[in-house]
Amino acid sequence: MANLILSLSLVVITWSSLALAHEPSPLQDFCVADFNAAAVRVNGFACLDPKQVTPDHFLFRGLNIPGNTSNPLGSFINRPTVLEIPGLNTLGISTVRVDYRPGGVVPPHRHPRASEILTVLEGTVLVGFVTSDPENRLISKVLQKGDVFVFPLGLVHFQQNVGQGNAVTIAFLSSQNPGVIAIANAVFGSDPAINADVLAKAFQVDKSIINKLQAAHN
Ligand SMILES: *[C@@H]1O[C@H](CO)[C@@H](O)[C@H](O)[C@H]1NC(C)=O
Repeated sequence: MANLILSLSLVVITWSSLALAHEPSPLQDFCVADFNAAAVRVNGFACLDPKQVTPDHFLFRGLNIPGNTSNPLGSFINRPTVLEIPGLNTLGISTVRVDYRPGGVVPPHRHPRASEILTVLEGTVLVGFVTSDPENRLISKVLQKGDVFVFPLGLVHFQQNVGQGNAVTIAFLSSQNPGVIAIANAVFGSDPAINADVLAKAFQVDKSIINKLQAAHN
């Protein structure tokens, strides 16, 4: 009997730690982020006392406002995370608006903690992701207004406005804090830099080309 209780307790403990280690599966209605509870270390943020929670903790305004796409990539990303919407804490979701001028891109990148589902609100957008197994296969489409496309968790993906006018997309991600690794920035713009010889061999090009790429990303 004692053994049975011990085994059951272990199962309960295992399940509890699983519940705490992953989003979502909240254990209460909500856990609005308490940014001041610095002493408490948890996966995410500690929960604000529910009595102190207000509607504004669940609100973000301004995703209707076009971003400024006058930059080398020709795109603008507005990505409110748990830091802007404390009510997102532990819920495992977030959203992002991207504006693109004609030709504008969101360069190849990955979200270590989120799948992404994207909808085109305006324009014509080329999207794609690359599989990891059994080979690096490109899965790609040209999307029109109203089309929806999915980028699976962690895979490298990109977007480009291939239409005549501006484009707008809205996406939702399966994490309050999806993270973003822009491949070119991570590989060529790290600080300190990755040894150019490593990159010359990895990309099978002359070191001078790597030096140029590193200069362009610093
Ligand atoms: C957009 O950004 C460019 C480059 O930084 C800047 O020159 C321009 O004034 C900005 N436009 C608006 C409307 O803010």
